[in-house]
Amino acid sequence: MVKAVVLGAAGGIGQPLSLLCKMSPLIDVLSLFDVVNSPGVAADLSHIATKAGDFKGEQQETEDAKKAALSGADIVIIPAGVPRKPGMTRDDLFKINAGIVKDLIVACSKYCPKAFILVISNPVNSTVPIAAEVLKEAGVFDPKRLFGVTTLDVVRAENFVAELLNQKDSSKFNIPVVGGHSGNTIVPLFSQTQPSVDIPADKLDGLVHRVQFGGDEVVKAKDGAGSATLSMAYAGFRFAEALLKAAKGEKGIVEPTFVYLPGVEGGDAIAKATGCDYFAVPVELGPGGAEKAINIVSKANDYEKKLLDEATKALKTNIEAGVNFVKGAS
Ligand code: NAD
Ligand code: LMR
Repeated sequence: MVKAVVLGAAGGIGQPLSLLCKMSPLIDVLSLFDVVNSPGVAADLSHIATKAGDFKGEQQETEDAKKAALSGADIVIIPAGVPRKPGMTRDDLFKINAGIVKDLIVACSKYCPKAFILVISNPVNSTVPIAAEVLKEAGVFDPKRLFGVTTLDVVRAENFVAELLNQKDSSKFNIPVVGGHSGNTIVPLFSQTQPSVDIPADKLDGLVHRVQFGGDEVVKAKDGAGSATLSMAYAGFRFAEALLKAAKGEKGIVEPTFVYLPGVEGGDAIAKATGCDYFAVPVELGPGGAEKAINIVSKANDYEKKLLDEATKALKTNIEAGVNFVKGAS
Protein backbone atom coordinates (compact mmCIF):
# COMPACT_ATOMS: atom_id res chain seq x y z
CA MET A 1 0.00 0.00 0.00
CA VAL A 2 1.41 3.39 -0.97
CA LYS A 3 0.00 6.47 0.75
CA ALA A 4 0.66 9.84 -0.88
CA VAL A 5 -0.12 13.21 0.73
CA VAL A 6 -0.41 16.59 -0.98
CA LEU A 7 0.08 19.57 1.36
CA GLY A 8 -1.42 22.69 -0.26
CA ALA A 9 -3.81 20.46 -2.21
CA ALA A 10 -6.43 23.13 -2.96
CA GLY A 11 -4.01 25.48 -4.70
CA GLY A 12 -3.15 26.13 -8.32
CA ILE A 13 -0.55 23.34 -8.33
CA GLY A 14 -2.18 21.24 -5.62
CA GLN A 15 -5.42 20.57 -7.51
CA PRO A 16 -4.02 19.26 -10.81
CA LEU A 17 -1.23 17.46 -8.93
CA SER A 18 -3.84 15.73 -6.75
CA LEU A 19 -5.74 14.75 -9.90
CA LEU A 20 -2.59 13.19 -11.39
CA CYS A 21 -1.93 11.35 -8.11
CA LYS A 22 -5.55 10.14 -8.02
CA MET A 23 -5.12 8.66 -11.50
CA SER A 24 -1.80 6.95 -10.73
CA PRO A 25 -1.72 3.16 -10.44
CA LEU A 26 1.33 3.62 -8.16
CA ILE A 27 -0.74 5.27 -5.41
CA ASP A 28 -3.28 3.39 -3.27
CA VAL A 29 -4.29 6.02 -0.73
CA LEU A 30 -4.30 9.76 -1.33
CA SER A 31 -4.65 12.32 1.42
CA LEU A 32 -5.17 16.02 0.77
CA PHE A 33 -4.38 18.82 3.20
CA ASP A 34 -4.79 22.56 2.84
CA VAL A 35 -5.93 25.42 5.06
CA VAL A 36 -8.84 26.08 2.66
CA ASN A 37 -11.17 23.96 0.52
CA SER A 38 -9.43 20.61 0.66
CA PRO A 39 -12.61 18.67 1.60
CA GLY A 40 -14.15 20.19 -1.54
CA VAL A 41 -11.25 19.11 -3.73
CA ALA A 42 -11.35 15.65 -2.13
CA ALA A 43 -15.13 15.33 -2.67
CA ASP A 44 -14.69 16.39 -6.30
CA LEU A 45 -11.91 13.86 -6.96
CA SER A 46 -13.80 11.10 -5.13
CA HIS A 47 -16.30 10.97 -7.98
CA ILE A 48 -13.58 9.59 -10.26
CA ALA A 49 -13.29 5.85 -9.77
CA THR A 50 -9.60 4.95 -9.72
CA LYS A 51 -7.29 2.84 -7.59
CA ALA A 52 -6.27 5.72 -5.31
CA GLY A 53 -9.51 5.59 -3.37
CA ASP A 54 -9.95 5.77 0.35
CA PHE A 55 -8.93 9.38 0.70
CA LYS A 56 -10.15 12.54 2.28
CA GLY A 57 -9.29 16.18 2.58
CA GLU A 58 -8.25 17.68 5.88
CA GLN A 59 -8.74 21.39 6.25
CA GLN A 60 -8.42 22.84 9.72
CA GLU A 61 -5.01 24.11 10.70
CA THR A 62 -5.12 21.83 13.74
CA GLU A 63 -2.68 19.23 14.93
CA ASP A 64 -5.36 16.53 14.56
CA ALA A 65 -5.94 17.41 10.90
CA LYS A 66 -2.22 17.29 10.12
CA LYS A 67 -1.88 14.01 12.03
CA ALA A 68 -4.79 12.46 10.13
CA ALA A 69 -3.41 13.59 6.79
CA LEU A 70 0.21 12.56 7.35
CA SER A 71 0.09 9.40 9.47
CA GLY A 72 1.34 6.41 7.50
CA ALA A 73 2.47 8.51 4.52
CA ASP A 74 5.07 7.08 2.17
CA ILE A 75 5.43 10.22 0.07
CA VAL A 76 4.54 13.83 0.88
CA ILE A 77 4.45 16.44 -1.88
CA ILE A 78 4.44 20.09 -0.75
CA PRO A 79 3.17 22.87 -3.02
CA ALA A 80 1.85 24.91 -0.05
CA GLY A 81 2.60 28.62 0.04
CA VAL A 82 2.21 31.82 -1.91
CA PRO A 83 3.22 32.20 -5.57
CA ARG A 84 4.93 35.18 -7.24
CA LYS A 85 3.31 38.23 -8.79
CA PRO A 86 4.96 40.28 -11.57
CA GLY A 87 8.00 42.19 -10.28
CA MET A 88 8.73 39.70 -7.49
CA THR A 89 11.63 37.26 -7.25
CA ARG A 90 11.27 33.84 -5.69
CA ASP A 91 13.32 35.11 -2.74
CA ASP A 92 10.56 37.66 -2.05
CA LEU A 93 8.38 34.67 -1.10
CA PHE A 94 10.74 33.64 1.70
CA LYS A 95 9.02 35.86 4.29
CA ILE A 96 5.76 33.91 4.08
CA ASN A 97 6.73 30.51 2.71
CA ALA A 98 9.67 29.83 5.06
CA GLY A 99 7.28 29.66 8.03
CA ILE A 100 4.68 27.61 6.15
CA VAL A 101 7.24 25.01 5.08
CA LYS A 102 8.82 24.91 8.54
CA ASP A 103 5.47 24.18 10.22
CA LEU A 104 4.52 21.51 7.69
CA ILE A 105 7.89 19.78 8.03
CA VAL A 106 7.56 19.80 11.82
CA ALA A 107 4.31 17.86 11.30
CA CYS A 108 6.05 15.46 8.87
CA SER A 109 8.82 14.87 11.42
CA LYS A 110 6.19 13.80 13.96
CA TYR A 111 3.71 11.83 11.87
CA CYS A 112 5.64 10.39 8.92
CA PRO A 113 9.39 10.69 9.67
CA LYS A 114 10.31 8.03 7.13
CA ALA A 115 8.31 9.41 4.21
CA PHE A 116 9.89 10.76 1.02
CA ILE A 117 9.41 14.54 1.19
CA LEU A 118 9.22 16.51 -2.08
CA VAL A 119 9.39 20.29 -1.64
CA ILE A 120 7.88 22.43 -4.41
CA SER A 121 7.24 25.62 -2.37
CA ASN A 122 9.51 28.51 -3.33
CA PRO A 123 12.20 29.61 -2.87
CA VAL A 124 13.29 25.96 -3.20
CA ASN A 125 16.96 27.00 -2.72
CA SER A 126 16.03 27.98 0.85
CA THR A 127 12.93 25.90 1.69
CA VAL A 128 14.85 22.61 1.26
CA PRO A 129 17.59 23.66 3.74
CA ILE A 130 14.77 24.78 6.08
CA ALA A 131 13.18 21.34 5.79
CA ALA A 132 16.52 19.62 6.41
CA GLU A 133 17.26 21.71 9.52
CA VAL A 134 13.81 21.00 10.98
CA LEU A 135 14.23 17.27 10.37
CA LYS A 136 17.75 17.41 11.88
CA GLU A 137 16.42 19.12 15.00
CA ALA A 138 13.80 16.40 15.33
CA GLY A 139 16.53 13.76 14.93
CA VAL A 140 14.88 12.18 11.86
CA PHE A 141 16.77 13.67 8.91
CA ASP A 142 17.52 11.18 6.16
CA PRO A 143 19.10 13.15 3.26
CA LYS A 144 18.17 10.35 0.86
CA ARG A 145 14.50 11.08 1.48
CA LEU A 146 14.36 14.87 1.08
CA PHE A 147 14.09 16.36 -2.43
CA GLY A 148 13.71 19.85 -3.84
CA VAL A 149 11.65 19.49 -6.99
CA THR A 150 13.52 21.09 -9.91
CA THR A 151 11.94 18.94 -12.62
CA LEU A 152 10.16 21.92 -14.18
CA ASP A 153 13.56 23.31 -15.21
CA VAL A 154 14.32 20.02 -16.96
CA VAL A 155 10.89 19.95 -18.60
CA ARG A 156 11.44 23.51 -19.87
CA ALA A 157 14.96 22.80 -21.12
CA GLU A 158 13.79 19.74 -23.02
CA ASN A 159 10.82 21.53 -24.50
CA PHE A 160 12.66 24.73 -25.46
CA VAL A 161 15.42 22.73 -27.18
CA ALA A 162 12.84 20.72 -29.12
CA GLU A 163 11.15 23.97 -30.15
CA LEU A 164 14.45 25.53 -31.26
CA LEU A 165 15.39 22.49 -33.31
CA ASN A 166 11.88 22.17 -34.78
CA GLN A 167 11.39 18.76 -33.19
CA LYS A 168 7.86 17.79 -32.22
CA ASP A 169 8.76 15.31 -29.50
CA SER A 170 10.64 16.83 -26.55
CA SER A 171 10.51 13.53 -24.64
CA LYS A 172 13.38 12.13 -26.68
CA PHE A 173 15.79 14.66 -25.13
CA ASN A 174 17.39 14.11 -21.77
CA ILE A 175 18.88 17.39 -20.55
CA PRO A 176 20.45 17.69 -17.11
CA VAL A 177 19.73 20.98 -15.35
CA VAL A 178 21.82 21.51 -12.22
CA GLY A 179 22.36 24.11 -9.47
CA GLY A 180 19.27 25.58 -7.86
CA HIS A 181 15.78 26.74 -8.81
CA SER A 182 15.82 30.49 -9.43
CA GLY A 183 17.27 32.75 -12.10
CA ASN A 184 20.99 32.29 -12.61
CA THR A 185 21.21 29.44 -10.09
CA ILE A 186 19.51 27.30 -12.77
CA VAL A 187 22.23 25.84 -15.02
CA PRO A 188 21.22 23.74 -18.03
CA LEU A 189 24.13 21.57 -19.18
CA PHE A 190 23.32 21.38 -22.87
CA SER A 191 26.75 19.84 -23.55
CA GLN A 192 25.50 16.74 -21.69
CA THR A 193 22.23 16.38 -23.62
CA GLN A 194 21.32 12.83 -24.66
CA PRO A 195 21.18 12.36 -27.59
CA SER A 196 23.67 15.14 -28.23
CA VAL A 197 22.34 18.30 -29.85
CA ASP A 198 23.95 21.04 -31.87
CA ILE A 199 22.74 24.38 -30.57
CA PRO A 200 23.70 27.26 -32.89
CA ALA A 201 26.24 29.48 -31.06
CA ASP A 202 24.15 32.61 -31.65
CA LYS A 203 21.15 30.96 -29.95
CA LEU A 204 22.89 29.59 -26.86
CA ASP A 205 22.73 32.67 -24.58
CA GLY A 206 19.04 33.13 -25.38
CA LEU A 207 18.24 29.50 -24.73
CA VAL A 208 20.05 29.46 -21.38
CA HIS A 209 18.28 32.68 -20.39
CA ARG A 210 14.91 31.21 -21.36
CA VAL A 211 15.44 28.15 -19.14
CA GLN A 212 16.72 30.30 -16.25
CA PHE A 213 13.83 32.76 -16.47
CA GLY A 214 11.08 30.51 -17.88
CA GLY A 215 9.09 31.01 -14.68
CA ASP A 216 8.97 34.77 -15.37
CA GLU A 217 7.30 34.15 -18.75
CA VAL A 218 4.37 32.48 -16.98
CA VAL A 219 4.22 35.02 -14.13
CA LYS A 220 4.07 37.82 -16.71
CA ALA A 221 1.42 36.09 -18.85
CA LYS A 222 -0.76 35.37 -15.78
CA ASP A 223 -0.49 39.06 -14.94
CA GLY A 224 -0.98 38.91 -11.18
CA ALA A 225 -2.93 35.63 -11.05
CA GLY A 226 0.05 33.52 -9.96
CA SER A 227 2.83 31.46 -11.50
CA ALA A 228 3.20 28.13 -13.28
CA THR A 229 0.67 25.61 -11.98
CA LEU A 230 -0.22 23.10 -14.71
CA SER A 231 3.33 22.57 -16.00
CA MET A 232 4.45 22.35 -12.36
CA ALA A 233 1.81 19.75 -11.51
CA TYR A 234 3.01 17.76 -14.53
CA ALA A 235 6.66 18.14 -13.46
CA GLY A 236 5.96 17.37 -9.78
CA PHE A 237 4.06 14.26 -10.72
CA ARG A 238 6.79 13.21 -13.17
CA PHE A 239 9.31 13.32 -10.32
CA ALA A 240 6.99 11.61 -7.79
CA GLU A 241 6.22 8.84 -10.28
CA ALA A 242 9.93 8.27 -11.00
CA LEU A 243 10.62 8.03 -7.26
CA LEU A 244 7.73 5.62 -6.63
CA LYS A 245 8.83 3.39 -9.51
CA ALA A 246 12.40 3.34 -8.18
CA ALA A 247 11.11 2.63 -4.67
CA LYS A 248 9.34 -0.42 -6.06
CA GLY A 249 12.64 -1.69 -7.44
CA GLU A 250 12.76 -0.38 -11.00
CA LYS A 251 16.41 0.14 -11.90
CA GLY A 252 18.24 2.87 -13.81
CA ILE A 253 15.94 5.78 -12.94
CA VAL A 254 17.88 9.06 -12.85
CA GLU A 255 16.30 12.49 -12.32
CA PRO A 256 17.87 15.84 -11.43
CA THR A 257 16.76 17.02 -7.98
CA PHE A 258 17.97 19.44 -5.28
CA VAL A 259 19.49 17.37 -2.45
CA TYR A 260 21.75 17.65 0.59
CA LEU A 261 24.92 16.40 -1.07
CA PRO A 262 26.98 15.22 1.95
CA GLY A 263 24.20 12.76 2.77
CA VAL A 264 24.02 11.11 -0.64
CA GLU A 265 26.62 8.69 -2.06
CA GLY A 266 28.88 10.53 -4.50
CA GLY A 267 27.66 13.91 -3.21
CA ASP A 268 30.77 14.87 -1.23
CA ALA A 269 32.90 15.42 -4.36
CA ILE A 270 30.22 17.68 -5.88
CA ALA A 271 29.85 19.63 -2.62
CA LYS A 272 33.63 20.13 -2.54
CA ALA A 273 33.79 21.22 -6.18
CA THR A 274 30.89 23.67 -5.94
CA GLY A 275 31.27 24.82 -2.32
CA CYS A 276 27.53 24.15 -1.85
CA ASP A 277 26.03 21.50 0.41
CA TYR A 278 22.75 21.63 -1.46
CA PHE A 279 22.69 21.35 -5.24
CA ALA A 280 20.46 19.97 -7.96
CA VAL A 281 22.23 17.13 -9.77
CA PRO A 282 21.10 14.01 -11.58
CA VAL A 283 20.39 11.47 -8.86
CA GLU A 284 19.96 7.74 -9.23
CA LEU A 285 16.77 6.83 -7.43
CA GLY A 286 16.15 3.54 -5.63
CA PRO A 287 14.20 1.91 -2.79
CA GLY A 288 15.94 4.15 -0.23
CA GLY A 289 15.36 7.34 -2.25
CA ALA A 290 18.42 9.26 -3.49
CA GLU A 291 20.85 6.38 -3.90
CA LYS A 292 23.65 8.16 -5.77
CA ALA A 293 24.49 11.69 -6.92
CA ILE A 294 26.03 11.70 -10.39
CA ASN A 295 28.91 14.12 -10.84
CA ILE A 296 27.97 15.63 -14.16
CA VAL A 297 29.16 19.07 -13.00
CA SER A 298 32.79 18.01 -13.50
CA LYS A 299 32.03 17.46 -17.21
CA ALA A 300 30.80 21.02 -17.80
CA ASN A 301 32.47 22.88 -20.67
CA ASP A 302 34.08 26.33 -20.23
CA TYR A 303 30.86 28.19 -21.10
CA GLU A 304 28.94 26.12 -18.51
CA LYS A 305 31.69 26.51 -15.89
CA LYS A 306 31.12 30.28 -15.97
CA LEU A 307 27.39 29.73 -15.45
CA LEU A 308 28.18 27.40 -12.54
CA ASP A 309 30.41 30.03 -10.91
CA GLU A 310 27.57 32.57 -10.99
CA ALA A 311 25.09 29.97 -9.75
CA THR A 312 27.10 28.84 -6.74
CA LYS A 313 27.60 32.41 -5.49
CA ALA A 314 23.86 33.09 -5.37
CA LEU A 315 23.03 29.62 -4.14
CA LYS A 316 25.30 29.84 -1.10
CA THR A 317 23.41 32.92 0.11
CA ASN A 318 20.03 31.24 -0.43
CA ILE A 319 21.11 28.10 1.43
CA GLU A 320 22.50 30.13 4.32
CA ALA A 321 19.22 32.05 4.62
CA GLY A 322 17.30 28.78 4.93
CA VAL A 323 19.67 27.26 7.49
CA ASN A 324 19.71 30.45 9.57
CA PHE A 325 15.92 30.70 9.52
CA VAL A 326 15.72 27.50 11.56
CA LYS A 327 18.98 27.74 13.53
CA GLY A 328 18.42 31.38 14.39
CA ALA A 329 15.02 30.53 15.81
CA SER A 330 16.19 27.73 18.06
P1 NAD B 1 -1.56 28.81 -4.73
O1 NAD B 1 -1.68 30.05 -3.93
O2 NAD B 1 -2.48 28.63 -5.90
O3 NAD B 1 -1.74 27.53 -3.80
C1 NAD B 1 -1.04 27.40 -2.60
C2 NAD B 1 -1.91 26.63 -1.63
O4 NAD B 1 -1.18 26.48 -0.41
C3 NAD B 1 -3.23 27.37 -1.29
O5 NAD B 1 -4.34 26.53 -1.52
C4 NAD B 1 -3.06 27.69 0.19
O6 NAD B 1 -4.29 27.65 0.92
C5 NAD B 1 -2.13 26.57 0.63
N1 NAD B 1 -1.49 26.83 1.92
C6 NAD B 1 -1.00 28.00 2.41
N2 NAD B 1 -0.53 27.82 3.65
C7 NAD B 1 -0.69 26.51 3.94
C8 NAD B 1 -0.41 25.71 5.07
N3 NAD B 1 0.15 26.21 6.17
N4 NAD B 1 -0.73 24.40 5.02
C9 NAD B 1 -1.30 23.86 3.92
N5 NAD B 1 -1.59 24.57 2.82
C10 NAD B 1 -1.30 25.87 2.83
O7 NAD B 1 -0.04 28.71 -5.22
P2 NAD B 1 0.58 27.73 -6.34
O8 NAD B 1 0.54 28.40 -7.65
O9 NAD B 1 -0.03 26.37 -6.17
O10 NAD B 1 2.13 27.71 -5.88
C11 NAD B 1 2.50 27.11 -4.65
C12 NAD B 1 3.99 27.25 -4.43
O11 NAD B 1 4.73 26.51 -5.41
C13 NAD B 1 4.52 28.69 -4.54
O12 NAD B 1 5.45 28.93 -3.52
C14 NAD B 1 5.21 28.72 -5.90
O13 NAD B 1 6.20 29.71 -5.98
C15 NAD B 1 5.79 27.32 -5.93
N6 NAD B 1 6.17 26.82 -7.26
C16 NAD B 1 7.32 26.08 -7.35
C17 NAD B 1 7.73 25.56 -8.56
C18 NAD B 1 8.97 24.71 -8.64
O14 NAD B 1 9.47 24.48 -9.76
N7 NAD B 1 9.50 24.18 -7.58
C19 NAD B 1 6.97 25.81 -9.72
C20 NAD B 1 5.81 26.57 -9.61
C21 NAD B 1 5.42 27.08 -8.36
C1 LMR C 1 8.59 28.38 -11.89
O1 LMR C 1 9.76 28.12 -12.20
O2 LMR C 1 7.69 28.50 -12.74
C2 LMR C 1 8.24 28.48 -10.43
O3 LMR C 1 9.37 28.49 -9.62
C3 LMR C 1 7.31 29.61 -10.13
C4 LMR C 1 7.93 30.97 -10.29
O4 LMR C 1 7.83 31.76 -9.34
O5 LMR C 1 8.44 31.27 -11.36
